[in-house]
Amino acid sequence: MKKKIEDPLKPIVAVCKRRGFIYPGSEIYGGFANTYSYGPYGVELKNNIKNLWWKFFVQSRKDIVGIDGPILLHPKTWEASGHIEGFNDALIDCKECKSRFRIDKLIEDQANEDVEGLSLEELTKILDDKNIKCPKCESKNFTKARHFNLMFKTEMSKTDLENNISYLRPETAQSIFLDYKNVIDTMRVKIPFGIAQIGKAFRNEITPGNFIFRLIEFEQMEIEYFIEQNTWQENFDSWLIDMKKWCEMIGLDSKKLKDAEHAKEKLSHYSKRTVDITYDFPFGTNELYGLAYRTNFDLSQHQKLSKVSQEFIDNVNNKRFIPHVIEPTFGLDRTILALLCDAYRVEELKNGESRVVLRFSKNIAPVKVAIFPLMKKPELTNLSKKIFDMIKNLFVAEYDETGAIGRRYRRQDELGTPYCITIDYQTIEDSTVTIRDRDSMEQKRISVDNILNTLNENFRPEI
Ligand code: GAP
Repeated sequence: MKKKIEDPLKPIVAVCKRRGFIYPGSEIYGGFANTYSYGPYGVELKNNIKNLWWKFFVQSRKDIVGIDGPILLHPKTWEASGHIEGFNDALIDCKECKSRFRIDKLIEDQANEDVEGLSLEELTKILDDKNIKCPKCESKNFTKARHFNLMFKTEMSKTDLENNISYLRPETAQSIFLDYKNVIDTMRVKIPFGIAQIGKAFRNEITPGNFIFRLIEFEQMEIEYFIEQNTWQENFDSWLIDMKKWCEMIGLDSKKLKDAEHAKEKLSHYSKRTVDITYDFPFGTNELYGLAYRTNFDLSQHQKLSKVSQEFIDNVNNKRFIPHVIEPTFGLDRTILALLCDAYRVEELKNGESRVVLRFSKNIAPVKVAIFPLMKKPELTNLSKKIFDMIKNLFVAEYDETGAIGRRYRRQDELGTPYCITIDYQTIEDSTVTIRDRDSMEQKRISVDNILNTLNENFRPEI
């Protein structure tokens, strides 16, 4: 009998479900492949990452402005960008068990060959030559290979569109390109400058997801940085440095991050150079973020199809040109997965028990501080609620009076809460509380008057 390989993400998926970070999508209907819902703590974590990203890349820089563009763009956008023509996966179906596969993945897994850029005929030939089998039922009875566009189509009520078809954007980047002209006309920006956006993107992916690594609906945090052509190399290098600063700031383990230069034949149709920042996920090393030199491909294409000039007019140097673009792109869901993988620990305790703890860096932890009365007695709960009220508008705090104190600590460890404050009978006598550190589990007594100072000290903003 075949030995079942344990999914290395299983404990992380379990804690995410158990603690309200991430739920499977449409679960009551048996699930819906490659979709997930962020629960109450997941959405806090996600918002913390988005806010920090916006602060670091937009608000604290003079050369970047933000937008929030639409998901549905004029269909001509995708003709111009090359997505209608080229945003495809080569697929086949198994005729026996009706499973569908990406051919490149099948060949990569079973013959260990990289087949990027090969035609459908060449791929089909390799399938035969290398005796590739269906991984589900081991049959070799496949349909013919065909291209499958990864964009989700949607039908519009507008009648002036060809077939009434529009697409959900597969990358946020194109909303930025469509607004580039509005930004230069309204914002007094000068080259070099960037436009940033955080938003949803959609791709009709068929490969297995590895939890939230590959989704059909996901969020991107992207910047299009507009430059003069002859400065692309130095801008590229400096963006790679900034992307790494970001990784460090959110606490990603630098030992698990690597640069992966794309070979020429692997570059997307728009790119002259791409470097991925990969992360060592438990299921293998994979792309976390990307940095691409998109030349002026997109703006030139939009100028061609829209017939609206996309030139930047430099009155000081008396020049006009279509700017080139450096694109740093950050998948938000992949960021969350990498942070969960880094943070997840099972630790043996001195008393022989063990605990699960998410050691998130403090700036992204969904709850910053939990407030516990030692027992559910009015003299302690009333005082605890007062302390909770003092903190709640300054730090995301949680009040919990239910169950044994040890279990309440364990619950907060699994949420990654950096501090727990406990109110006990000594608090009534001398106005002190205990503050427990998530990582060392050490408890110190501090005075109630000193709580806000202590928290301020420990949650100092880095930007
Ligand atoms: N605008 C460029 C662009 O979209 P990409 O490498 O296709 O480039 C950018 O995607 C980032 O979006 C990736 O580095 C990854 O973090 C994230 N991403 C891409 N496809 C994804 C998917 N199916 N599920 C989750 N995240 C995805």
